[in-house]
Amino acid sequence: MVHIAILGLGVVGSGTADLITQNKDLIKERFGEEVNIKYILDIKDKPESPYSDKIIHDYNVILEDPEVTVVAEVMGGSHPAFEFSMQALSKGKNVVTSNKEVVSNFGDQLLKAASDNNVSYLFEASVGGGIPVLRPLSTDLSANNIKEIVGILNGTTNYILTKMKKEGESFENALAEAQKNGYAEANPSADIDGIDTCRKISILTAIAYGKLINPQSIHTEGIAGIRREDVEAIERTGACIKLLGKSVMTENKEVYVMTAPFVIGNENPLASVDDVFNAVTVKGDFVGDVTFYGRGAGAYPTASAVCGDIMNIISGATANLNIKPWQASDEMFMSDFSYFACKRYLSFADTDKNAAQVIFGDVEMIQEGSEISFITGSITENELSDKVMRLCSSGARLCAHIRVL
Ligand code: HSE
Repeated sequence: MVHIAILGLGVVGSGTADLITQNKDLIKERFGEEVNIKYILDIKDKPESPYSDKIIHDYNVILEDPEVTVVAEVMGGSHPAFEFSMQALSKGKNVVTSNKEVVSNFGDQLLKAASDNNVSYLFEASVGGGIPVLRPLSTDLSANNIKEIVGILNGTTNYILTKMKKEGESFENALAEAQKNGYAEANPSADIDGIDTCRKISILTAIAYGKLINPQSIHTEGIAGIRREDVEAIERTGACIKLLGKSVMTENKEVYVMTAPFVIGNENPLASVDDVFNAVTVKGDFVGDVTFYGRGAGAYPTASAVCGDIMNIISGATANLNIKPWQASDEMFMSDFSYFACKRYLSFADTDKNAAQVIFGDVEMIQEGSEISFITGSITENELSDKVMRLCSSGARLCAHIRVL
């Protein structure tokens, strides 16, 4: 029998306990071992939970119990999740987690601690909810040079954007539904402001290149500034807006990493990824494009990934996901974002097509009237700032800027 402890009986903790309980026989049949949830650590007693008899409040009980060989850290937040994980690893316990905040901030230290103690630190559930993407990226695709990773990595914002587009739902109502469904973070600004996506693209980039970029160094924008009129104008061109995490390897072996809303043509597979679904496309030099798709948030999909890691540990099939522990954040590895070039959707008030074309050259006009909207050719962030400043110096007002994938 394998004894495990779950840290946190929230959305993911309850889902994990449900999966282990409901699929107990199947797990035993497949792995020849029964998985027993010996403890659940939570600050509350939660008498309404079917697992309340397992709840304890003192973490030392888990640390000091040699029978517990796997700790599932699903409590969220950086602290004390990071310290608890380090303590478990240094006691020789394997740790699995869905906590992208901890992995993106401290993954280098945690992987080193796991390696030093000859145990595993696994975090498939930290990116893409139930989608297996970290393991295939770190194993099956590892003979490729990864050229690009681009993905819809946040279920809450994708759910909100889909509800607004397809059902004309207000932002506030769509967010409330996402919260009710257990998709959103405890503080949903992490979803809305792109922070959650930023953490996930940092983890994917680390898996691909072995270097962990501090999420704070990643250019990050959320969806709060997206206006209904831009959604509609873009839709008329056969495209849509999605919040993406994107990592691109340059010729100089540096990466551009970013989180921002992008305009995506409807022919791109990512354009049809709706609701809570996430998708990640990885471009390898030999394999070409590979797209992973599935539910990106919610108790059961995330529990599936948490338990997948536990099963990998039980079966002895895995070492740590990385080949070597990640190097700590390396600014030199990141390309200067001001040189990132792409086409842009722009909308200006108090100007006209002619004035815009003098500065932006040949553009694809989308609408004219009290506001003009158009798509530019490929220009860098620096060039954009310069051109916007020039147009605005003649009285124009910038109303929207969305990058085009
Ligand atoms: N709040 C996250 C999301 C949960 O909506 O994607 C899964 O990481």
